[in-house]
Amino acid sequence: MTTKLVIKDLKKNFGSKQVLTGIDLQANKGESIVILGGSGSGKSVLIKIIASLLTPSSGSVKIDDMEVADIGARDRDKLMEKFGFLFQGGALFDSIPIWENVAFRLINQKKLDKKKARAIAIEKLKAVGLSEKVADLYPAELSGGMQKRASLARAIAADPEIIFFDEPTTGLDPIMADVINDLIISNSKQLGATTITITHDMASARKIADKIAMLYEGKIIWFGDVKDMDSSNNPYLDQFIHGRAEGPINFLAV
Ligand SMILES: Nc1ncnc2c1ncn2[C@@H]1O[C@H](COP(=O)(O)OP(=O)(O)OP(=O)(O)O)[C@@H](O)[C@H]1O
Ligand SMILES: [Mg+2]
Repeated sequence: MTTKLVIKDLKKNFGSKQVLTGIDLQANKGESIVILGGSGSGKSVLIKIIASLLTPSSGSVKIDDMEVADIGARDRDKLMEKFGFLFQGGALFDSIPIWENVAFRLINQKKLDKKKARAIAIEKLKAVGLSEKVADLYPAELSGGMQKRASLARAIAADPEIIFFDEPTTGLDPIMADVINDLIISNSKQLGATTITITHDMASARKIADKIAMLYEGKIIWFGDVKDMDSSNNPYLDQFIHGRAEGPINFLAV
């Protein structure tokens, strides 16, 4: 098994607000990691730091044995080519059609000609259940769920080595959510990508995860195989996976 990602004692604060207070996490090549945690617990911040979109306050993030926490601009560009990112809000570019959104990296980074890039974009759109007709529409013309799927197509379009999915099934109907689950599985299991997914959807977490990491008060309080999740005897994890209001988790947002 090849180690892809190693995080050690990662901390992040915004001013006096401590968001991450000492994260340790590992992922192997081709592994699917699911991050669980309450709203505002720092899940999106954590994956943005791994993807080098945010800088940590301290600690180490290594990808393929390369330290990314204090990476220089040129190395960062190279590193970014390894990543695919589905942002929580979708974050499509409003002023370009869907196919160009999906093909953005292929055109701008991989320098594919537009015809080839468009053909790949259409294939990726089909993989997320969007027909060719969607290709020439603009983001504003799509429903919320369709925009989410187009963002997913963009995240996987350039065959990245590590794919970050920030709530990929939120706002989708149950059938489409399961299409997306299968897509995440096929990207990790067949294409060998390491996937890091944030979700509140426990059915999805159970289906796609090899390993579960539960974030609480700035730390990973449980990390293990998904098959051990139900017998963890961890009261925080238990409360979370069963969605109980009663329990040790303090859910007051600050
Ligand atoms: N750029 C920023 N500047 C200041 N504070 C920030 C910034 N980004 C995130 N935060 C704060 O960090 C905390 C964690 O935010 P984050 O977006 O990671 O939460 P989350 O776990 O993804 O929540 P949700 O499930 O609601 O998406 C929040 O309190 C948020 O206000
Ligand atoms: Mg978030």
